[in-house]
Amino acid sequence: MKNTLIAPSVLAADFANLQRDIEMVNNSEADWFHIDIMDGVFVPNISFGMPVLEAIARHAKKTIDVHLMIVDPDRYIKTFADLGANILTVHFEATTHLHRTLQAIKAEGMKAGVAINPHTNVSLLEDVINDIDLVCIMSVNPGFGGQSFIENTYKKVKQLKEIITKNGASTLIEIDGGVTSKNAVQLAEAGADVLVAGNFVFKAENPTQTITDLKKLLAS
Ligand code: DX5
Ligand code: ZN
Repeated sequence: MKNTLIAPSVLAADFANLQRDIEMVNNSEADWFHIDIMDGVFVPNISFGMPVLEAIARHAKKTIDVHLMIVDPDRYIKTFADLGANILTVHFEATTHLHRTLQAIKAEGMKAGVAINPHTNVSLLEDVINDIDLVCIMSVNPGFGGQSFIENTYKKVKQLKEIITKNGASTLIEIDGGVTSKNAVQLAEAGADVLVAGNFVFKAENPTQTITDLKKLLAS
């Protein structure tokens, strides 16, 4: 079976012990860091901003996958590149000229991602699929960690996988929200390449072991 990647979402970390939690991910079998930036406008919550990302990036030894839940993300593309983001994901619903935004992200040397809300149909991405490195399918409404997984996501993953294959694209499919050991295998089977996990990892009694178990489950 293919290697499904795990991206722990730092939103669920203990911010009073951020360095400890970053090191936990560094020393685990996790593949990426998933970083949620919320502006209180695009989503009804504010997470953290540039100084915190700068601190995370100083310690992180794995790919930094930044998920922008902000309006007008074009304003900050260069800033996030300078802060060390490797993948920059903007919301489909927050961009007016998505094709232009994708090129601007790549021009800064980052991989370009597009996130879609639960109500957004994957077919809307077809005309730019060859320009997208990663599609993040939101399996909860963005804004908060710890929400329940929306079951309609499986269907969306399959539909998106078909679009990617049909167009000969190499776009990765990432799932974000409510991921646990209960839905991980079914998501991977539907075509998911990257699973974001916040609460399931960081609120576990043993986060390192939880990541190991999840990777094992996905490899079996
Ligand atoms: C939600 C964020 C997610 C969140 C996932 O708006 O984009 O990345 O941190 O957290 P869990 O896995 O707890 O749902
Ligand atoms: Zn996210």
